[in-house]
Amino acid sequence: MRVANPYIFDIKPYVPGKPIEEVKRELNLKSVIKLASNENPYPPSPGVIAAINKAARDVNRYPDGDCFFLRQALARRLKVNENQLIFGNGSDEVIVLAVKAFAGKDDEVIIAKPSFLIYEIASRLTGARIHEVPLKNFRYDLEGIKAKLNDRIRIVFIGNPDNPAGTYINAQQIADFMKTVNKGTLIFIDEAYFEYVRAKDYPDSLQLMKSYPNVMVTRTFSKMYGLAGLRIGYGIAQPQTIDILNRLREPFNVNSLAQAAAVAALKDQRYYRHIAKEIEDQRQFLYCSLKRMGLHYEESFTNFILIRVHHAASTANALLKKGVIVRDMTAWGLSDYIRVSIGTAAENKRFIKTLKEAK
Ligand SMILES: Cc1ncc(COP(=O)(O)O)c(C=O)c1O
Repeated sequence: MRVANPYIFDIKPYVPGKPIEEVKRELNLKSVIKLASNENPYPPSPGVIAAINKAARDVNRYPDGDCFFLRQALARRLKVNENQLIFGNGSDEVIVLAVKAFAGKDDEVIIAKPSFLIYEIASRLTGARIHEVPLKNFRYDLEGIKAKLNDRIRIVFIGNPDNPAGTYINAQQIADFMKTVNKGTLIFIDEAYFEYVRAKDYPDSLQLMKSYPNVMVTRTFSKMYGLAGLRIGYGIAQPQTIDILNRLREPFNVNSLAQAAAVAALKDQRYYRHIAKEIEDQRQFLYCSLKRMGLHYEESFTNFILIRVHHAASTANALLKKGVIVRDMTAWGLSDYIRVSIGTAAENKRFIKTLKEAK
């Protein structure tokens, strides 16, 4: 038998949140709610569902490899050129493409710890050396990152806001940081939760990209636009960077239902603004309830909250037995934290009630 690429054995397999049906089957439960993968708890807009139904008639054909209509619509919305966009099977794919393109064997990358796991998985795959910089009080330690910068660092990953902490780097902090970075280092800003951030000092990364061509930004339709199941995300960068990533991309990486749904979602801004407001209100409900229970949480700028409990594994397990799936953060090195996605009002009430019983 062929021996696999040795880097592969350094990769810890990504363990996703358990699917609802699996938990129902395993625990013989009738009603299960999932608050574990930072999904949108609401269905897509009626316009999006109609667009998916319409596009379903043509799935005998390969999708448009260039995402023509989506590219046009998004370029117009973001005020960027069409050749500054790349689409992926989720923004995960764009992260992997960037690592493959820019950080090969023995190149170096910087990743915060804990951070979104795909940065590490993608980097291990190419054999890049990883420098980890621990968060300080659940915030990026930009001074610590600066101290690690050298000519071999090819990518610095910045989740803004990041997962699992839910905190963000502000405009001033990123502007100061960029002044110290070598132009040959890609600053990869992952804005998967961009649409949920309300903070006035949140950076305008597309503006930043105009002064710093080494900035690349990714966003997704999985979170606020509720299309996680269709897998579609995108990257924004200078045309030269996009051209490089396009050479690595599989020709039909984004399926046709996802493209049609994303175009329709961009048109339905009113519906999605309403959802973002709902999530904001529910975040406040969860904060109030947690405060009343005397539980510490990190203020979040996303659709999830990191909550300190006594023992994450046993709390998550007690919740699971009652049909509430949350994330035990032990694998991230946070054995006294669970991460809970913000659900619908009914789901959040059930989570709080079950958490009280589990305490
Ligand atoms: C910080 C961050 N980036 C990227 C993603 C990936 O999103 P997708 O591949 O669904 O676009 C996630 C998903 O949880 C995330 O938390």
